[in-house]
Amino acid sequence: MDADRRNIQDFKILEVQELDVNYGGIQALKKINLTISKGEVVTLIGANGAGKTTTLRAISKIVNPKSGAIIYSGRNITRHQTHEVVKLGIAHCPEGRRVLAKQTVFDNLLLGAYIRSNQGEIKADIQHQFELFPRLSQRRHQLAGTLSGGEQQMLAIARALMSRPQLLLLDEPSLGLAPAIVKEIFSIIENLRATGVTILLVEQNAHLALQIADRGYVLEAGSITLTGAASELINDERVKKAYLG
Ligand SMILES: Nc1ncnc2c1ncn2[C@@H]1O[C@H](COP(=O)(O)OP(=O)(O)O)[C@@H](O)[C@H]1O
Ligand SMILES: [Mg+2]
Repeated sequence: MDADRRNIQDFKILEVQELDVNYGGIQALKKINLTISKGEVVTLIGANGAGKTTTLRAISKIVNPKSGAIIYSGRNITRHQTHEVVKLGIAHCPEGRRVLAKQTVFDNLLLGAYIRSNQGEIKADIQHQFELFPRLSQRRHQLAGTLSGGEQQMLAIARALMSRPQLLLLDEPSLGLAPAIVKEIFSIIENLRATGVTILLVEQNAHLALQIADRGYVLEAGSITLTGAASELINDERVKKAYLG
C-alpha cells in the first residue's frame, strides 16, 4: 500500500476521548473512547439503556459531556452547538425517526437543509433523495405522519442526508420494522457507504449491524467493554452469548 492511500485510510474523521456524560446524578457514559476512520461503517451495539443513544447525542451536541473530548476532522467540537456540528458535516438520524408528522414529505426534506441557502442545490438534492427513495417520491405531498414506520425511517434518513453529511449517525434504524423493510433500509445504508459517507450505526440488532459494519464497539452500562473488526465480533463467544442469541 503506498503512503497516500494509507493516509487516506487512516484519516480519523471522529475521535471520542475519555467521554463522560451525566444526566443529573446518573452517569450514562464512563470514559468512552472510540475512533472512526473516513469511509468506515462502525457499529455501536449494546442492550437497552447501555448508553448508545447518549453517545450519538453527545457527538451531535444535543447533550453536553461532563468531561472528555470529541474531535471531528481534527477539530475540537466538544463545546460546539448542534447547528455548528451540522454545518461541519455531522448529521444525526434520531431514534424513533422524529419526522414532523403534520408536514409533508417534501417539507420535511426541506427542513433537513435548514443550514443551507442555495435553493437550486437544495431542490436538486431533494430530487436526488427521491431517486434514492422512490417510495418517498410517490408520497412527496403526503403528510409524514401518515407514512408507514418504514417510510418514516426512510424519510428520517433522507432528511439527515439533506445537510450533505460527511458523517452520518444512525440510531436504531431497524427498530420496530418488518424484516422486509429492514432489509430495504440496510441496503440503502450499504449504498450510502458506497457514496463515501462515513457511518456510525447504533443497533440493538447486533447480527444485522455486524454484517454491514467494518468495526464494532460493545457498550455495557456506559462503558466500552469490547471492540474489534466486525468479522471478529460476530464470532466472539461473549458477543454471541449476549447479543446474537
Ligand atoms: N434524558 C435523560 N434523563 C435522564 N436519564 C437518561 C436520559 N436519557 C437517557 N437516560 C439514561 O441514560 C442511560 C443510557 O440511555 P441511552 O443512551 O438512551 O441508552 P440506549 O440508547 O443504549 O438504550 C439509561 O440509564 C437511561 O435511563
Ligand atoms: Mg437508544
